[in-house]
Amino acid sequence: MEHGQTQIGFIGGGNMAQAIAAGLLRAGHEPAALAVAEPLAATRARWHGLHAAIRTGSDNAAVAADAAVLVLAIKPQVMPAVLAGLAGLARPRGQLVISVAAGVTLATLARSLGAGTPAVRVMPNQPALVGEGMSVLVASAVVDAAGREQACYVAESTGRALWLDDESLMDAVTAVSGSGPAYFYLLMELMERTAIDLGLPPDVARTLVRQTATGAARAAAMPDADVAALRASVTSPGGTTAAALAVLEREGIGETLRRALTAARDRGAELGRSAG
Ligand SMILES: NC(=O)c1ccc[n+]([C@@H]2O[C@H](COP(=O)([O-])OP(=O)(O)OC[C@H]3O[C@@H](n4cnc5c(N)ncnc54)[C@H](OP(=O)(O)O)[C@@H]3O)[C@@H](O)[C@H]2O)c1
Repeated sequence: MEHGQTQIGFIGGGNMAQAIAAGLLRAGHEPAALAVAEPLAATRARWHGLHAAIRTGSDNAAVAADAAVLVLAIKPQVMPAVLAGLAGLARPRGQLVISVAAGVTLATLARSLGAGTPAVRVMPNQPALVGEGMSVLVASAVVDAAGREQACYVAESTGRALWLDDESLMDAVTAVSGSGPAYFYLLMELMERTAIDLGLPPDVARTLVRQTATGAARAAAMPDADVAALRASVTSPGGTTAAALAVLEREGIGETLRRALTAARDRGAELGRSAG
């Protein structure tokens, strides 16, 4: 069967689930093969906005009952209750369960759903909303090649996807790509604010910062791009960029970032322990 016909059910219809569903529709997935269980009527209405043929409801069991692929897209805090609800249900044999919840481990999924359930844990990120997401996947031992391919199909609908073998690295992934967009947004906010302080009109500041960020990201995404070399090539000795970078280095930007990402990694591990 074509991937585009696979029955994919979502438990939780919030932002991430909608981003994935929108990506699947863009990739040509059959809308009638998508279903979502979501408690909030206003959120369900947004799914009808994605496509009128998507089946929506508030009953997790109904969606789980006929999904070949079940995507768990709820907050980690509600995962224990949702897993407890799914544990006793008859679900299709070989159903692939994909969890996008931060910190929820494959062991936690196996404890509730059974060790024989093929499960894939995914850490997506927010640019999934615009089809430029970065998803990192890790699979339980019982996921076969077809299951990996299905999981990749779902994850790649929102951008790029890559596999890791070592699940213990997922907290570091969360710190880098999961939380990462916020670091870049903060840098852009701070640059915009400073640009205004330096006298630029707000709309000019906004355009300069955002186009510069987009341009730098595109240059860094070129095949074989070396970001250190790109930086060096705009940094003439004694020039303006060198003056700015000297301040950032003197003020300890490297150490600050190291502490920030380490804090995110450690918080991810802590949240995972409480979700488990
Ligand atoms: N957004 C991101 O950038 C991002 C990045 C990486 C990972 N994630 C992960 O993706 C997951 C979802 O995040 P999100 O941003 O999409 O959150 P969200 O917008 O809050 O979506 C969660 C949805 O699940 C619904 N829900 C709550 N309890 C439920 C239940 N018992 N059964 C079924 N649905 C239920 C919520 O409904 P109510 O509105 O009624 O509560 C909400 O619509 C999280 O675990 C998060 O860690 C998100």
